[in-house]
Amino acid sequence: MKEYDRLDAAFYDYYSLGVEGDVPFYVEEAQKAGGPVLELGCGTGRILIPTAEAGVEIAGLDRAPSMLAIARDKVARLDPAVQGRIELVEGDMRDFSLGRRFKLVTIPYRAFLHLLTGEDQRRALRCVRDHLEPDGRLILNVFDPRLDTIGAHLGSFGSALKMVSEFVHPDTGRKVVVWDTRQYDPETQAIEQYFIFEELDGEGQVVNKTYSSLVLRYVHRYEMEYLLELCGYRVEALYGDFGRGPFRYGREQIWVARPRP
Ligand SMILES: C[S@@+](CC[C@H](N)C(=O)[O-])C[C@H]1O[C@@H](n2cnc3c(N)ncnc32)[C@H](O)[C@@H]1O
Repeated sequence: MKEYDRLDAAFYDYYSLGVEGDVPFYVEEAQKAGGPVLELGCGTGRILIPTAEAGVEIAGLDRAPSMLAIARDKVARLDPAVQGRIELVEGDMRDFSLGRRFKLVTIPYRAFLHLLTGEDQRRALRCVRDHLEPDGRLILNVFDPRLDTIGAHLGSFGSALKMVSEFVHPDTGRKVVVWDTRQYDPETQAIEQYFIFEELDGEGQVVNKTYSSLVLRYVHRYEMEYLLELCGYRVEALYGDFGRGPFRYGREQIWVARPRP
């Protein structure tokens, strides 16, 4: 099954809730920039829609048609003035050309970790640079990897299967329980993450079971800093949370960078 295909996309808004405080942070940064904003890996519009509702013009690019279909559906139900501030584009952040520049480009909620090689990461960062105004900014967020978590799974078959959340199925009204297990490969810095969605009837019997998987490549703090510098950026800030607190090991990396002249 492909990442973020029809089924993952349908459940995405119910089990993938973002990082605490990220939506107001991005909305505030977008207002500060004054628009236009470009969000790469915009998914179902979790951040894009509140940004447009706050009065900022925003384009969202994503490579998964199913995620974009859900975003489009939500956008179609918005006030026409808000709709007018939104553009959705199917594309790949490693290679896109929108023919215009932006005051702010964001890559929220681990979307950057879908780039699995150094070359892909560099291609995306250079492409972003080509879409930034000279005084524009890039903001991207990835988690900060914990060596103890990775080390704990070395030589084993991966993490235990854990129940991570539950939600009400949007169509059937039944409870869906989400299970998650991961494998880490420190050689490639890859995390293979498997999800199992179990839909239960009133008796607790599983009536439907679906699987999906994702591969991410984690990045360390200084790797990300050097990567930004290599691709023509000057780092303005590294926050550790969306309250703009300092970087702390094992939490979040929230990078704010400007293109170097
Ligand atoms: C974790 S979701 C984040 C969605 C949204 N930004 C949010 O915060 O809810 C990651 C998104 O990145 C998209 N994505 C992954 N690789 C991509 C690529 N190379 N180019 C464009 N989009 C990509 C996926 O399709 C998915 O919608």
